[in-house]
Amino acid sequence: MSKTWFITGAARGLGAAITRAALAAGDRVVVTGRNRAALVEAFGENSDTVLALALDVTDAAQIQAAVDAATARFGGIDVLVNNAGYGHLGLFEETLAQDARTQFDTNVFGVFDMTRAVLPVMRAQRSGRIFNVSSIGGLAGGASGSIYCASKFAVEGFSESLADEVKGFGIHVTIVEPGFFRTDFLDSSSVRHTDNPIADYAEASAAIRAFYDARSHNQAGDPAKLGQALVALASADQPPIRWAAGTDAIGVVEAKAAGLQAELNAWRDLSASTDGDFAFREEPQTEMAWS
Ligand SMILES: NC(=O)c1ccc[n+]([C@@H]2O[C@H](COP(=O)([O-])OP(=O)(O)OC[C@H]3O[C@@H](n4cnc5c(N)ncnc54)[C@H](OP(=O)(O)O)[C@@H]3O)[C@@H](O)[C@H]2O)c1
Repeated sequence: MSKTWFITGAARGLGAAITRAALAAGDRVVVTGRNRAALVEAFGENSDTVLALALDVTDAAQIQAAVDAATARFGGIDVLVNNAGYGHLGLFEETLAQDARTQFDTNVFGVFDMTRAVLPVMRAQRSGRIFNVSSIGGLAGGASGSIYCASKFAVEGFSESLADEVKGFGIHVTIVEPGFFRTDFLDSSSVRHTDNPIADYAEASAAIRAFYDARSHNQAGDPAKLGQALVALASADQPPIRWAAGTDAIGVVEAKAAGLQAELNAWRDLSASTDGDFAFREEPQTEMAWS
C-alpha cells in the first residue's frame, strides 16, 4: 500500500535522495525545507504526490502548520523522516557556548518538536514509522565531535526511549546511522567549524579541518542507495531500532560493540563490587525500570 512520507531538510543531500526513492516507489511525499523555492526546483510544483512546505525545524509554529497542512492534503502521515541537521565540527575548547546551543536547537530540539507534532497523527492512525537520521557519530564519539556527536547521542537516547513508549500504538522508531555520505554535509554551505582558536590546539585543529575538507564531496556513501534502503525499511514488519548505513558505519558499530564488551570484562569485578549488602524485600533489580 502506498505511503505518505514527511521529510525534513528535503531540498538537498540525504533528504532529497530519500524523497526521490519514496516517489519512485509510488509513495506521496511532503517535502519540507527552509527554502520552499529550492524544494519546488528539486521536485516541481505541488502535485498528486508532492506537497512542498517551508519549514525550519527550529520554528515550532511552522512545524505545527506544516503537519496540519500535510494531514489536510494527504489524510495522514505514515513515515516521518527527521533528517534536517548539520555538523558543528571542531575541538570543544575552541567551540563557543552558543555554537553548542545552536547545534542542539536543530539536531535535537528540532527532532523533539517535529516528533511531538506528528505523534498524535500516528497515534490516531495506530500506525507509523519514524526514521531519526542520527550518524555513526551518534554511537561513537571522537576528537572534533564533542558538540555534533553529543547532539546525535541525544537523538539516539531519545529514539530508543520513544520506541518503547509508542510501540503499543503500532509506531516503529528507527535510528539511521550513516557513515560518510556524498552530500553537502562537509561543504561550507552546511558544516560549521569552530572559530575560537587556542594556540595549544592549532596543530590538531588544522589537521581536523584538512581531514574534513579532503572528504567533502569525496565520500563513499551513495545517498540514492540510502534512500532505497529506507524505502525497504519502511515496509519491514519489524524494522531495526538502529540501522547503520555504509561499510564504514558497520566498522564503527563493530569496534564500539567489541570495545564496550572488552572494557566491561576488564572492569567487571569493580563494577559488580558496588551492590549494597542491604536487605531487600525482593531480589535486587538487575534491569532498569524501563528495560
Ligand atoms: N552526509 C553525511 O556524511 C552524514 C553522515 C551522518 C549523518 N548525516 C546526517 O544526515 C542528515 C542530512 O545531512 P546531509 O548529509 O544530507 O547534509 P546536507 O546536504 O548539508 O543537507 C542538510 C539538509 O538539512 C537542512 N537543514 C539544516 N538545518 C535545518 C533547519 N534548521 N531546518 C530545516 N532544514 C535544515 C538543510 O537545509 P538548507 O538547504 O536550507 O540548508 C539541508 O536540506 C543530517 O542530520 C546529518 O547530520 C550525514
